Amino acid sequence: MSFKNKTVIVTGGSKGIGEGCVRVFHREQANVVILDVDSKTGKKLSEELGSKTLFVKCDVSSEKEVQEAINKAVETFGGVDVLVNNAGILKYATVTDTSEEVWDAVMNINLKGAFFCAKYAIPEMQKQGAGIVINMSSAQAFISQDKVAAYTTSKTAMLGLTRSIAVDYAPEIRSVAICPGGIDTPLNREAFEKSPNPEQTRQATIDIHLVKRMGTAKEIAEMAAFAASEKGSFLNGHPIRIDGGIGVQIGGSGAD
Ligand SMILES: NC(=O)c1ccc[n+]([C@@H]2O[C@H](COP(=O)([O-])OP(=O)(O)OC[C@H]3O[C@@H](n4cnc5c(N)ncnc54)[C@H](O)[C@@H]3O)[C@@H](O)[C@H]2O)c1
Repeated sequence: MSFKNKTVIVTGGSKGIGEGCVRVFHREQANVVILDVDSKTGKKLSEELGSKTLFVKCDVSSEKEVQEAINKAVETFGGVDVLVNNAGILKYATVTDTSEEVWDAVMNINLKGAFFCAKYAIPEMQKQGAGIVINMSSAQAFISQDKVAAYTTSKTAMLGLTRSIAVDYAPEIRSVAICPGGIDTPLNREAFEKSPNPEQTRQATIDIHLVKRMGTAKEIAEMAAFAASEKGSFLNGHPIRIDGGIGVQIGGSGAD
């Protein structure tokens, strides 16, 4: 699964699932470009991994910053082969409790950010006649926690974005959505810490997965690398649900 001489852009690559993707594609010999608002962590990661890695500070909700960042990636490494639209935020609120500001922030980063990155990366892929856009959706594109109205909406909409890219740019360019269950990342760790009983919340999250654990960033990253590789080249347009079985059980029947 070598990505030698290929360039992979990972948004939100400083931490969590994005960091996992950066590490796995780097291990597979790709040039990796990290786009993130967190410069300190992103630069540290880029320095650790060495010269085939580039950090570019970029807020994906800004069209100008995305355009500049993708230009920088192309100037540095000569093209774009894989885009991992991973940057995302989660805000807890029901529809009636969600302010316009929170709704816009979630949509602008999770959905519009993915659109902007695809908009500027796809023409670079077209120049070389191949490429893939991987959209980091969520199990919450199919099932929803309570009080995540904007988040679950944004993640569901990413499936439409994925389909549109697959349909419009076939056969040269593919797109898949990856839909993770609960993954042990800073996003979840911070959410647990903010809950009244962090350990209980963490255990409850573990318990709703049939495998009785949370997933790791590396597991999601390995799926992204597989989807982007020649071995995954028949995957196109669909969501890939990698969720420890969170989405398949209704509940216990009570039978012996
Ligand atoms: N952790 C989970 O359980 C889980 C499950 C399903 C889907 N996801 C999705 O996977 C993605 C990564 O999640 P995570 O848990 O690793 O999150 P995380 O909060 O641990 O990391 C997210 C990264 O995105 C960056 N980021 C945030 N806003 C940005 C912006 N405007 N521009 C550029 N970068 C920005 C952050 O600085 C951070 O480095 C998200 O889209 C999330 O919705 C996560």
